[in-house]
Amino acid sequence: MDPLSAFGPGFTWGVATSAYQIEGAVSEDGRLPSIWDTFSRVPGAIDNGDTGEVACDHYHRWPEDVDLLGRLGVDAYRFSVAWPRVIPEGSGAVNPRGLAFYDRLVDALLEAGIRPFVTLYHWDLPQALQDRGGWPSRDTARRFAEYAAVVAEALGDRVTDWTTLNEPLCSSWLGHLEGRMAPGLTDLTAAVRASYHLHLGHGLAVQAIRSAARSAPSIGIVNNLSPCEPATDSDEDRAAARRLDGHVNRWWLDPIAGRGYPEDMIEVYGVDLPVREGDLETIAAPLDYHGLNYYFRQVVADDPGGPAPHARQVPVPGATTTAMGWEVHADGLEQLLMRLTGEYGVEKIFVTESGSAWHDAVGPDGAVDDPERTVHLEEHLAACARAVRRGAPLAGYFAWSLLDNFEWAYGYDKRFGLVHVDYATQARTVKASGRRYAEMIREHRGAPVA
Ligand code: IFM
Repeated sequence: MDPLSAFGPGFTWGVATSAYQIEGAVSEDGRLPSIWDTFSRVPGAIDNGDTGEVACDHYHRWPEDVDLLGRLGVDAYRFSVAWPRVIPEGSGAVNPRGLAFYDRLVDALLEAGIRPFVTLYHWDLPQALQDRGGWPSRDTARRFAEYAAVVAEALGDRVTDWTTLNEPLCSSWLGHLEGRMAPGLTDLTAAVRASYHLHLGHGLAVQAIRSAARSAPSIGIVNNLSPCEPATDSDEDRAAARRLDGHVNRWWLDPIAGRGYPEDMIEVYGVDLPVREGDLETIAAPLDYHGLNYYFRQVVADDPGGPAPHARQVPVPGATTTAMGWEVHADGLEQLLMRLTGEYGVEKIFVTESGSAWHDAVGPDGAVDDPERTVHLEEHLAACARAVRRGAPLAGYFAWSLLDNFEWAYGYDKRFGLVHVDYATQARTVKASGRRYAEMIREHRGAPVA
């Protein structure tokens, strides 16, 4: 059966990006540094010493990028607002020139018939707030809510779809525990506190958006999740898979669902949560949708000597892997959609990111042929279709990413775009996968729903 026929006529087709990964112009129009500007300058932190200083120069080339969205034929564009553009010091004075950029972008999107999906935090904390303690400090949660109110007041007359946080797991575990992302810490206590204050900031921001936005907003959070399976049938590996599930899934879902933090993981971390009265209710603020970012599953072995959660991902023999070394496993997406539907009772889900990096090259004819990405896209959409047929309330799919971009610690070598970017000239070329995506969108619009 044609997978596209599983999706209803209102299904939202989109692509996603984030501010620091594409905008560049890091010192323009009053923007001040974020933790990623700082981290990129740490020797050895980023492959090839790359930074987001220029990135895709989207800050200047956004009209061309809106045209690309039109060529792909998407219904929606998920992008993030850079906090250090809007409130450069993290709190206090609002920078009108920073806000004006997003104002223009939103207007142009609406003019092109494209629905803006605004993410408020995609990892670019103003450095000034990091200097005052960053996410491990409770104050950052309050500042985040203030910033959310400012953006919602400015754009909330035209923007309906809001995401508070993108992948708080990465901000917390990769940024504060593993040191692989900004701010580059390796401190379990700081990481757990950061996760808690990110959640608190999310809950406070939900309240702030609901009171500031003039039209009825649709608000969600975006988590990157991974099914965790034991590498063997041993009790040790099964327990390790359960711990890793706690670390990468339940820690991020349970508090938002009003279940509090998983007790087994509080014990594994051995860190006191800085809970104050009313916090858990704030964190569990009712949401309009849940955003799911999916890239890979984790096959897990016990790792008693390793850092918390004492579990490690092991390679899967014979697996197809992307340029990131991530296993291609579309069934994992179906599994997660069913888990959100069944175990968590989520009533509306968007796949807010799904995509893959490959070693793309521009051919002699100027075209970029990327069959692996096309297959990946088709397989993941087929997985979505299976989940929808099993009852998952999937409302839309956002391919990651519109453009090749700054892939954080991997710099510019890892290309996820449906559109190729030549960083020397900033020329954009729609890849074969981008053309296929556009074709599927057109096919879906014309297809009878079965
Ligand atoms: O590029 C990132 C994005 O910023 C967040 N989700 C995963 C993508 C690929 O690693």
